[in-house]
Amino acid sequence: MLKTLTVFGTRPEAIKMAPLIKKLETEPAIRNIVCVTAQHREMLDMVLNQFCIKPNYDLDLMSNCQSITEITLRTLRGLQTVLHREKPDAVLVHGDTTTTFTASLAAFYEKIPVGHIEAGLRSWNIYSPYPEEMNRRLVGAIAGLHFAPTEGNKQNLLQCGIEEKNIFVTGNTVIDALRMMVSNNFIFPNQLLNQLDYSNKKVILLTAHRRENWGENLKNIFSAVKDIVLDHSDTEVIFPVHPNPAVKDLADKLLEKTNRIHLIPPLDYKAFTNLLSRCYLVLTDSGGIQEEAPSLGKPVLVLRTETERPEAVEAGTVKMAGVNRHEIYRQTTELITDKKKYKQMSQAVNPYGDGRAAERIAAILKQYLEGRP
Ligand code: UD1
Ligand code: UDP
Repeated sequence: MLKTLTVFGTRPEAIKMAPLIKKLETEPAIRNIVCVTAQHREMLDMVLNQFCIKPNYDLDLMSNCQSITEITLRTLRGLQTVLHREKPDAVLVHGDTTTTFTASLAAFYEKIPVGHIEAGLRSWNIYSPYPEEMNRRLVGAIAGLHFAPTEGNKQNLLQCGIEEKNIFVTGNTVIDALRMMVSNNFIFPNQLLNQLDYSNKKVILLTAHRRENWGENLKNIFSAVKDIVLDHSDTEVIFPVHPNPAVKDLADKLLEKTNRIHLIPPLDYKAFTNLLSRCYLVLTDSGGIQEEAPSLGKPVLVLRTETERPEAVEAGTVKMAGVNRHEIYRQTTELITDKKKYKQMSQAVNPYGDGRAAERIAAILKQYLEGRP
């Protein structure tokens, strides 16, 4: 029997790997082993529970305020043991985190081929997103199979010198995951979210966590959000706060006890996506949310100066708001007050796939592994 090892460590990797793990469970020719580094803990466990995934290995390495260097060293060491024991035919990694990079490197050291899911996203700026842009490039250099969500991602990989025969445009597995979640009659575990008046209030969903936004940029973002809420009495802001102390401490300091700004703990994936489907607009610096919101017809203002996900910007549902307090205020106010502008941005488009990405990846993997000597 062929053996694959999927390695992931953070919330977004888990969400986007889950559909593939579920698909591989149904493949009689493949035994898939799941290893989590637990670079995240509670946020990872929420996803594992939701998708009923029980890891074979849990390196349990999250520590408070961990540095990138620490994650790298501990993941590399932990994975060496797993790879020696399991000797998989291929290692599968997702996206751009430090877990993704170190798992690829650990596999390379053991001369095990790597399949990179969500390959080929590029901002072409190594410090934004940091360290994710470099992680993607390094994984791209190691991987033998590149599963690109879009044609544009494929072009980026070709530009990096990756051979065309090793690139497969599959769509993004996030759309597979999203389709398993959203329903009209969903009841939130959090009562506040059930009580919100989604028809008469403009519910703004806010998330922010990126390393390059820590400090000054986050201060600007939070100040802009405060200004918006003060000036528009029909708005409510829901902010599921990332537990990273660099984010949480500042959010508590600047936003806690502000009328109509609700700081809540991270939501599980089902609750989050159902909130996404009901909110008015999204302010975010997240990567995954830029992919999910367009297919739910929700305008997104990105709290960054560039994106490695230009497809939805080109389609018109995502706009770059940047990190300047006044510009964020201006663009958000426009969407609150200008119905025409809002309508233009709230057309449902889906440049990221048809919900069958995992199926395609599993089929390509099987063919590749069966064809190897
Ligand atoms: C990580 C990834 C980033 C990804 C993001 C998704 C790296 C370097 N960063 O950033 O690419 O976009 O995840 O969310 O790979 N913490 C908890 N509980 C959790 C998770 C985090 O308490 O479940 C706290 C801990 O104090 C931890 C800190 O957050 O030390 C930072 O976590 P870390 O994974 O290093 O960075 P993120 O900012 O989450
Ligand atoms: N998400 C979630 N609960 C939350 C906030 C986000 O389940 O409270 C999901 C969201 O739907 C998306 C993913 O987490 O799929 C995005 O994760 P994050 O923003 O942490 O990482 P990024 O996508 O920026 O790498």
